[in-house]
Amino acid sequence: MTMTTRKIFLLLLVLAPLRMAAAGKTCPGVPWLGAVAACRKASGTKFIYNLCIGRMREDGVDMSPSHKQQVTAYIILATEDAANSYDSTTLVASNQLDQNASLPGAVRDAYQGCLNDYSPAEDSLDRVAEALKSGCDFVGLADAYVSGMTSLENCRDRLLSLQQYKTPVYPMVLHDREKVSLAYMLAKLLGI
Ligand SMILES: *[C@@H]1O[C@H](CO)[C@@H](O)[C@H](O)[C@H]1NC(C)=O
Repeated sequence: MTMTTRKIFLLLLVLAPLRMAAAGKTCPGVPWLGAVAACRKASGTKFIYNLCIGRMREDGVDMSPSHKQQVTAYIILATEDAANSYDSTTLVASNQLDQNASLPGAVRDAYQGCLNDYSPAEDSLDRVAEALKSGCDFVGLADAYVSGMTSLENCRDRLLSLQQYKTPVYPMVLHDREKVSLAYMLAKLLGI
């Protein structure tokens, strides 16, 4: 996607926040779980568990234990949420680059670096979401999440090295890191 289509896409997301759980294909060997059970199984910490439950609620998932879905449905939600969050972060960084004339050079370089870090990370999350929606081949999935996280960490470190500047992007990157971690933890329920 070009930056412009991404912006339009993001606008549409803002205008249409009620996306329903996009169920993937029914795949053999993939567990059927209620949302709460899926969050419990996937989460190693209370923090991630709460993030997971909050994510499901926000997306309008039926939380009753009797409403079981294949876990791919939850993974798709969490992955798309992370991808949307990546989009918001890159949008803020590119707006700063375009519009903030008083951006110090070091910050400018870091933002540019972050955009380069984020671009392949966004692509790999988009690919993961597509693969989960369209098929049952989970090969390479773990690598895609891990490389998506590594790119974020590169960006985080760029921003961390700007010790004298507080940037609005830094907390967004930390937030993205949480979201992609949640998606990856849910994806591990596939045995990847
Ligand atoms: C411009 O960048 C500086 C340095 O990062 C920041 O303090 C300021 O809030 C930014 N201005 C706007 C309008 O975002």
